Amino acid sequence: MASPKPRWFLLFLFFLCCNIPFISFASDHISFNNTLSGNQTISSQGGKFQLGFFQLGNRSESSNYYLGIWYKKVIELTPVWIANRNTPISDPNKSELRILATGNLALLNHNTQIWSTNITSLSSNSTICKLLDTGNLVLQYSSNETATLLWQSMDHPTDTWLPGAKLGRGKATGQQRMVSRKNSDDPAEGIFSLEIDPNGSSQYLLYWNRSKPYWTSGQWNGKIFTNVPEMSSNYLYDFKYFSNENETYFTYSLQDDSIISRLVMDVSGQIKQLTWLEESQQWILLWTQPQAQCDVYALCGPFGSCSDKSLPYCSCLIGFKEVNSIQWELSDPTGGCLRNSPLKCSVINDSSSSNGPNDQFFQMSSIKLPDNPRVLNTANTVQDCERACLQNCSCNAFAFSSMNCSVWFGNLLNLHQETDGSGKTLFLRLSASELKNGDHMEKDIIWVIIGSVIGFLVSAVIIFLMVRGYKRRKFVLAMRESESSLATLTYGDLKRMTNNFSERLGRGAFGSVFKGTLPNSRYVAVKRLEGPLQVGEKQFRNEVSTIGIVQHVNLVRLRGLCCERNKRLLVYDYMENGSLDKKLFYGSSTVLDWKTRYQIALGAARGLAYLHESCIDCIIHCDVKPENILLDELFVPKVADFGMAKLVGREFSRVLTTLRGTIGYLAPEWISGVAISAKTDVYSYGMVLLELVSGRRNSEQQEEGHVDYFPLRAAIELNEGNILALLDNRLNGDANLEEVERVCRVACWCIQDEEHNRPTMGQVVQILEGILDVGLPPVPRSLKALKEDTTSLVFLREHSLGEQSCPVGTSDS
Ligand SMILES: *[C@@H]1O[C@H](CO)[C@@H](O)[C@H](O)[C@H]1NC(C)=O
Ligand SMILES: *[C@@H]1O[C@H](CO)[C@@H](O)[C@H](O)[C@H]1NC(C)=O
Ligand SMILES: *[C@@H]1O[C@H](CO)[C@@H](O)[C@H](O)[C@H]1NC(C)=O
Ligand SMILES: *[C@@H]1O[C@H](CO)[C@@H](O)[C@H](O)[C@H]1NC(C)=O
Ligand SMILES: *[C@@H]1O[C@H](CO)[C@@H](O)[C@H](O)[C@H]1NC(C)=O
Ligand SMILES: *[C@@H]1O[C@H](CO)[C@@H](O)[C@H](O)[C@H]1NC(C)=O
Ligand SMILES: *[C@@H]1O[C@H](CO)[C@@H](O)[C@H](O)[C@H]1NC(C)=O
Ligand SMILES: *[C@@H]1O[C@H](CO)[C@@H](O)[C@H](O)[C@H]1NC(C)=O
Ligand SMILES: *[C@@H]1O[C@H](CO)[C@@H](O)[C@H](O)[C@H]1NC(C)=O
Ligand SMILES: *[C@@H]1O[C@H](CO)[C@@H](O)[C@H](O)[C@H]1NC(C)=O
Ligand SMILES: *[C@@H]1O[C@H](CO)[C@@H](O)[C@H](O)[C@H]1NC(C)=O
Ligand SMILES: *[C@@H]1O[C@H](CO)[C@@H](O)[C@H](O)[C@H]1NC(C)=O
Repeated sequence: MASPKPRWFLLFLFFLCCNIPFISFASDHISFNNTLSGNQTISSQGGKFQLGFFQLGNRSESSNYYLGIWYKKVIELTPVWIANRNTPISDPNKSELRILATGNLALLNHNTQIWSTNITSLSSNSTICKLLDTGNLVLQYSSNETATLLWQSMDHPTDTWLPGAKLGRGKATGQQRMVSRKNSDDPAEGIFSLEIDPNGSSQYLLYWNRSKPYWTSGQWNGKIFTNVPEMSSNYLYDFKYFSNENETYFTYSLQDDSIISRLVMDVSGQIKQLTWLEESQQWILLWTQPQAQCDVYALCGPFGSCSDKSLPYCSCLIGFKEVNSIQWELSDPTGGCLRNSPLKCSVINDSSSSNGPNDQFFQMSSIKLPDNPRVLNTANTVQDCERACLQNCSCNAFAFSSMNCSVWFGNLLNLHQETDGSGKTLFLRLSASELKNGDHMEKDIIWVIIGSVIGFLVSAVIIFLMVRGYKRRKFVLAMRESESSLATLTYGDLKRMTNNFSERLGRGAFGSVFKGTLPNSRYVAVKRLEGPLQVGEKQFRNEVSTIGIVQHVNLVRLRGLCCERNKRLLVYDYMENGSLDKKLFYGSSTVLDWKTRYQIALGAARGLAYLHESCIDCIIHCDVKPENILLDELFVPKVADFGMAKLVGREFSRVLTTLRGTIGYLAPEWISGVAISAKTDVYSYGMVLLELVSGRRNSEQQEEGHVDYFPLRAAIELNEGNILALLDNRLNGDANLEEVERVCRVACWCIQDEEHNRPTMGQVVQILEGILDVGLPPVPRSLKALKEDTTSLVFLREHSLGEQSCPVGTSDS
């Protein structure tokens, strides 16, 4: 996101909304005798949106101003509509937005018209232009409040689709399209766009250069777009389809009007759903398509190569450099790359070339081949194919596989570096100087040599160790393990340690956990991450090392990792007593006494408080539940599985919300789709506390089939002073009732609907320690509602919920 340039603008904003809200020029419309110029703005009646001149980016050389609408409450300047995206003006003081004598609204700069609503059929010139609270700028006749719209900005989207706006096709509006920005500082029309299928079907398509589709939403089936199955859950957006002889469009609304959320056609070529997170003052990404960045067509431009496993995603091919490195920095690599040194390009005759070295080919492996190859049937060998390519100056590459020779003329577009083994080999034409003197090659060769030598030495050492026998190997492992930092283990090591993954301890959202034995006979828990991985090796290692730093007596200690090709494993301390759910709930062989339960409640709270408040890069757990609270041999609780959001990437939320059993612990903000915070963990923790008291799953059903929702019962009994009725009857009343009441009170505060009513984990710790007192909590609103309508609970239990993303590294402070 670009940050706003003009400080005065922000100042002005601040001034407007915070200091003098009653100031008179905060009007919501422009009429014939008031115009908009310089630093003036108008605001919508509810104060959600503002219209005026603004600047994007922080590059000092830019003096481009735009007229547009942005969110008034969002401190990071976020335009949702721009009148003159392709024709910036240089001085807002000399420009004005006004109603012309024809009744049209126009933007004038030094009295030349930059932009106008351009309606030819106005029957009267007495119009006004009004900014609505939906972010829509409308032109209507001033004489009549309820008059039909003459023009509205929502019919002419830039790159943002706001709730309530239509995006489709109509006789009046033509084919509407959302077009990405050129780069993060320049809102001019870029190369990617979203529009409804021009052939008439009910699907949306993403296009490259308005012509090449690279993603489709799938047809609308009445409820969802078929390629967007996540919409079937309780989705934040409520889409509606409308079609008749004059127009076809979709529109959507938000379930909660107070949420600030938008769909945007991003510079990255992806469509993104973003929601403003008030607490951390940032936009967070809730949903995006296509999910893999490299599925965006030709993202890296001519002679650029895309890799989903690296950041930045784009790089130039060997022998090429960025056409415009500033554009690349502004997240627009679509300009691509050009040659470092030109091709010699002489027509050759066999190998005997007398006049200097000729162009040569550089072999690239694991490449998804570029589009539009020319297949040559005349070339039957690699040599023929190579020669055929050399003979034409505009041939830039060839590939030869299964007796087929493909050559490419002109730009190479849409190259991917594949990592799943599906890639092919491409021979890239380079000037001989590039291959001979190019430092790339020399370095590469040196590295290859060094690599081989190291490889040879390593193999020699391994063979040596194998010969020396297992005892020796034990020593090496123990060495690695004793270092305070994380041990890096090979897949083979782990396979051996877990006896070929034979003893499964459990299976969670992200994979299975196996019992393993270290050479020194200590047990470890080996977690094998399963399912589609969203993060590459480098990021995985980075994230694991940050998680590895997090150490607390109430957090499970990470000991090692393994990261080999697509295999991702984590090694944790082994916990004798397994997870809390196995010891706590009815049906388990043990009954945890009250003292132990209190110790578990307090310990888990300390662990979470540490995650939220004490470590440098704060972590929101996002998945607090009994399965993730482990117990060591002394029943000291250790919170497990923290930091998974970082390791699993975007899939995290999807996995979590589609998993049965997790839902009972998710806070309302997950369900409604509002961004989540550390208070979301507090909610889940409150649910766990109630289960510690009752010894039952909160969501357990009673015999007769009607729901006995314990949290509701607890909130009511607590207010009536009936503490003993809440306690697990297996304990036969053997508990410190003062503590039970304290736990119940904390729990009911934790599960309040409003995040600001919930305590922080730090406060929870203090309350449980007896340092802080806690008052009687009200019955949470949503629980009260449940009392009347038990069907909604059944719904929650049976359906997966809305897609949410777990913010990574945001704190709640
Ligand atoms: C512009 O702002 C971004 C962050 O908003 C910063 O990373 C970048 O360095 C700034 N560029 C210049 C030229 O000041
Ligand atoms: C806006 O501009 C006018 C002059 O054009 C100036 O007097 C006024 O102080 C400015 N307001 C702010 C908030 O910068
Ligand atoms: C706007 O102009 C009209 C005449 O065109 C006049 O009657 C009206 O009083 C003016 N309004 C203001 C606020 O100046
Ligand atoms: C517009 O005018 C204001 C006040 O007169 C001045 O502070 C500002 O720099 C001017 N803006 C430009 C772009 O010249
Ligand atoms: C509107 O048009 C009438 C004539 O059609 C003209 O007399 C009047 O001045 C115009 N009003 C405005 C505000 O341009
Ligand atoms: C206004 O419309 C006319 C024809 O309908 C077109 O030629 C002209 O370019 C348009 N002007 C603007 C500013 O859109
Ligand atoms: C306002 O417009 C509506 C239709 O758009 C019409 O029925 C009504 O008579 C108009 N009222 C005035 C005062 O012009
Ligand atoms: C639209 O129709 C044209 C011509 O029939 C076809 O080439 C094109 O692929 C169609 N587009 C889509 C998105 O189906
Ligand atoms: C996009 O398409 C236009 C023609 O429709 C063409 O002139 C232009 O070169 C294309 N842009 C790129 C980057 O290929
Ligand atoms: C379509 O537009 C025409 C002319 O504007 C109008 O007569 C007709 O009623 C419209 N059809 C529908 C279904 O609204
Ligand atoms: C290449 O060799 C062919 C015969 O093998 C000859 O006819 C042709 O002139 C040669 N071309 C050049 C550019 O030397
Ligand atoms: C090279 O290939 C291009 C594209 O096929 C063709 O137009 C051109 O004539 C060829 N040039 C030679 C020298 O064969």
